[in-house]
Amino acid sequence: MTVRRDLIDTRTALVFTNPSMDSREASLSTILCSLLLFCLGCKCIASELHATQTAVLKVDASPQLARQIPDTLFGIFFEEINHAGAGGIWAELVSNRGFEAGGPHTPSNIDPWSIIGDDSSVFVATDRTSCFSRNTVALRMEVLCDNCPAGGVGIYNPGFWGMNIEDGKTYNLVMYVKSPEYVELAVSLTSSDGSQNLASVTIPVSGASNWTKLEQKLVAQGTNRTSRLQITTNKKGVVWFDQVSLMPTDTYKGHGFRTELISMMLDLKPRFLRFPGGCFVEGEWLRNAFRWRESIGPWEERPGHFGDVWHYWTDDGLGYYEFLQLSEDLGAAPIWVFNNGISHNDEVDTAAIAPFVKDVLDSLEFARGSAESTWGSVRAAMGHPEPFPVKYVAIGNEDCGKKFYRGNYLKFYNAIREAYPDIQMISNCDASSTPLDHPADLYDFHVYTDSKTLFSMKNTFDKSSRNGPKAFVSEYAVWRSDAGRGSLLASLAEAAFLTGLEKNSDIVQMASYAPLFVNNNDQTWNPDAIVFNSWQQYGTPSYWMQTLFGDSSGAMIHPITITSSYSSSLAASAITWQDSENSFLRVKIVNFGSDPVSLTISLTGLQAPVNAVGSTATVLTSSNVMDENSFSNPNKVVPVKSQLPNAAEQTQVTLAPHSFSSFDLALAQSKLVAEM
Ligand code: AHR
Repeated sequence: MTVRRDLIDTRTALVFTNPSMDSREASLSTILCSLLLFCLGCKCIASELHATQTAVLKVDASPQLARQIPDTLFGIFFEEINHAGAGGIWAELVSNRGFEAGGPHTPSNIDPWSIIGDDSSVFVATDRTSCFSRNTVALRMEVLCDNCPAGGVGIYNPGFWGMNIEDGKTYNLVMYVKSPEYVELAVSLTSSDGSQNLASVTIPVSGASNWTKLEQKLVAQGTNRTSRLQITTNKKGVVWFDQVSLMPTDTYKGHGFRTELISMMLDLKPRFLRFPGGCFVEGEWLRNAFRWRESIGPWEERPGHFGDVWHYWTDDGLGYYEFLQLSEDLGAAPIWVFNNGISHNDEVDTAAIAPFVKDVLDSLEFARGSAESTWGSVRAAMGHPEPFPVKYVAIGNEDCGKKFYRGNYLKFYNAIREAYPDIQMISNCDASSTPLDHPADLYDFHVYTDSKTLFSMKNTFDKSSRNGPKAFVSEYAVWRSDAGRGSLLASLAEAAFLTGLEKNSDIVQMASYAPLFVNNNDQTWNPDAIVFNSWQQYGTPSYWMQTLFGDSSGAMIHPITITSSYSSSLAASAITWQDSENSFLRVKIVNFGSDPVSLTISLTGLQAPVNAVGSTATVLTSSNVMDENSFSNPNKVVPVKSQLPNAAEQTQVTLAPHSFSSFDLALAQSKLVAEM
C-alpha cells in the first residue's frame, strides 16, 4: 500500500510541476491523473480484499498419539539426465576422453575435441588401435607441417561447455600416448580461444610401438571459467592419443565428486540415494541402457555409452561403484534401480531373461560380497574391501503394464529373495489404490503435475491399504507452466504434498524429488532442484523447500487439526525432532492462497514446556508466486530464518500469502534452558 501511495504522489507531482504546459494540456492531465488515481484506488481496494484470514492449528503432542516417521523417508533420486553426472557431479573435465562417443566403430565421433591448426598442418582420424580391449577407438593425429606455426598444432578439448580452471588449484592429467618417434608434447590449460595460458608443461614422449601412460600435475596460474585443455607439438609425424583425463585434485573426499554440488546434496540430509535413473536405466533401446558391468573397473577400460533417452554420451566415469561410493559419502542407503530386460522400445521375453537375472545377482555380489568373492574381489581391487550395504533394489523403472514386466519381475524377485532375503524389492506398479498382483516390499509412485493438482494430492495416501507393500514416492514434482524454471508456486504445492506424505508415513516409506540436477547448458528436463554450470550452482525454491523436510526422517509425527474458513488453502504437519543438543516441536505449514493468515498454533500433550529462547521461524516466500532463482539472483527465493520470541504453548504467527513456513518451538528440556 505504501508503495502505491508513493507511486501516486510521484506521478501527481510530475503532472503539476511541468511549467511548459498550457491549460488544455493541464485539464487533460487532470483527467488522466484522476483516472490514474481512480484505477490505483480500485487496485488498493482490490488488494484490501485480500483480507487477513484466521486459522487455529492444534497439535496433540501426547506420546501415545505420536508415531515415528521411517528413518528413510526423505532421500535423493539421482539420474544421469541434464548432464547431472557427466559434466556435473562427476568432476572429470574432459568430455569424450576416450574418443568413443560415436561408439566402437570408426570413424567415431570425437566431439567436442577439435584441432589447433588448419587442415594443411594437422589431420586427425579415429582408428581402432587402442590398448584397451573394451574401448578400442583411439585418435590418430598426423602433423603435416615442416615449419609449424608458433605454439604448434594439435588438439584441444573444451570439456563440458568450458572447463572451470581456478588459480592455484592442481589438476591431474592422465593420458595414453603412442608415438613411433621421439616427440615433445606441450600440454596447456588455456582460455577458450587459446590466448590466455593458465598452466603449461612440456612432456617428452620416447619413440615406441607401445602405448605409454603419461601422468602430469598442472597447477593453474589464473582463473578462467571456460578454459580448454590443449595438446600441441611442432614436430612432423604421427601421434596416437587415448583416454585423456583431467581431474581437479580437490574432489569430495578424493572420490571424484564435485565438492560444492555434494555439499548441496548433503544439506538435504538424504537418507537414501536412488540411482542411476529413471529412463536412463531403461534406454530407448536395450542396447543403450545403463549396464553396471561396463561401468566398473579401471576408468580407462570402461567403454562408456550413449544414453539415448537423454541424448548424450557418458564415459561412465560415474559408474556403479561410484554411485555406491556416493551413497556411502552421503550417509544414504543405496537404492539400485536396474534394467529388468525392458527399454522404452524393446523387451526381453521372460523365457530368455535368465542371463539378465544372473547379471543382477552379480551386481549384488559386487556390492555386498566378501572381498574374496568373484565380484566382491573386483570391488575390493577398486579400493573398497568392505561391502556396500545395498538393502533396496528397484526392478525396472516405469515398466508396469509392459508385456514382459510381470514375468520378468517375478524371475528377478524370486532369484534375489533366495540369494539376499533381506533385500527390499520395489515394484514399478502403483498399489496406492489397487492391490498388486505380485509380491513386493515397496511400490513406486511417480507424479508430475500442475501445482493445484499436487496441492490437492496431499491426501493421496490417506485411504491406501495399510496391509500391502509400502509406497516409495520415488519421483514427484510440479512441472509445465506452473513450474517456470523452478517457481515458488511449484515448491509450495510440493511442500503441501510432502506434509501429506509425512502424515501417511506409516505406509509411505520413502520420497524423492525429480530430477535433482540440471547443467544449465543441457536442460532436457525442466524443472530441476539444483541448477549449475561449470562453476556456479543454486537451488530452486523446490530445493530449498526440501531442506525444510530434512529433519523429518526418523522424527515423531503428531496429529493436527486446522480450524479455519480458509483451510482449503492450507496444508500442515507437526513433528518432534532433535538436533545434537535440543528437541523441537516443528510445525510446517503451507499457505497456498493469496491472503495472509493470522495463525494460532496451539499445543497440547507436550512433555516439556515451550521455550521462547531458541525457537525460530523459517519462511520461504517471495513477492510474486512465480518468482525463481537464477545465476544472477540465486537467493531471490530462499528460506529466511528469524527468532520466535513469543513462542509458547499458544503461539500467534502471521503466514505471508503464498508461503511455506517452518516453526521450530524449542522444548524446555533442551540444553538451552539448562544453560540459562
Ligand atoms: O525424472 C525424469 C524422468 O521422469 C525419469 O527418468 C522417469 O522415470 C520419469 O518419467
